[in-house]
Amino acid sequence: MGLHVSTHPLTAHLLTVLRDVTTPPSAFRSAARTLSTILSLEATADLESEAVSVQTPLEVTKGSRLENGLAAVPILRAGLSMLEPLLELFPDVAVGYIGLERDHETAEASRYYCKLPKLDGKVAVCLDPMLATGGSAAKAIELIKEGGPKRVVMVSVVAAPEGVEKLQAVHPDVPIYTAGLDRQLNPNKYILPGLGDYGDRLYGTQ
Ligand code: PRP
Ligand code: URA
Repeated sequence: MGLHVSTHPLTAHLLTVLRDVTTPPSAFRSAARTLSTILSLEATADLESEAVSVQTPLEVTKGSRLENGLAAVPILRAGLSMLEPLLELFPDVAVGYIGLERDHETAEASRYYCKLPKLDGKVAVCLDPMLATGGSAAKAIELIKEGGPKRVVMVSVVAAPEGVEKLQAVHPDVPIYTAGLDRQLNPNKYILPGLGDYGDRLYGTQ
């Protein structure tokens, strides 16, 4: 499955705001929110819908209604920032949460929380802004797949080539939607050029 890097000029503008070290948490959250809306739209462009007919004030015409089969699964903590923008677009989405945290030394992600809705037959959108080593996303998608979704889509704000390679190796059926494909990881497994620690910048915890 493919890697989809957004080509919208607003995406590049907002990503630049996120990268800028002088951007305060309030502006970071605002840019992150709009960017998540764009990525959510792009990642759901092929959602199934059913043909319906609709009565306009003048006549009956053909219309389309989305099938109610979407689930969103943010990876805590930073992925939470991507949930509200998705919920605004798709208010009836089922929501699950997976809590994963990377060890500061090894960058290995360990699970501290998992609560998922019924996923069988659904399209599950996994939300995590940073795809670095890919360990967190790979682990989360493994848990999501246990619920038997129809398909899984990964949405990240910034992806490292190492993370893309890992995810495509472990979950080749999962397309990745991102705002930017960066150069590489540094020795501490942070993305270069990246934007630093997304969660810390969102919540002012650095
Ligand atoms: C960050 C980020 C991802 C993960 C990506 O989370 O939000 O979940 O790192 O790294 P990986 O691809 O190498 O697994 P972090 O563990 O810092 O937790 P946080 O969201 O609570 O800040
Ligand atoms: N998590 C982040 O928040 N930033 C990185 O660069 C890598 C993982």
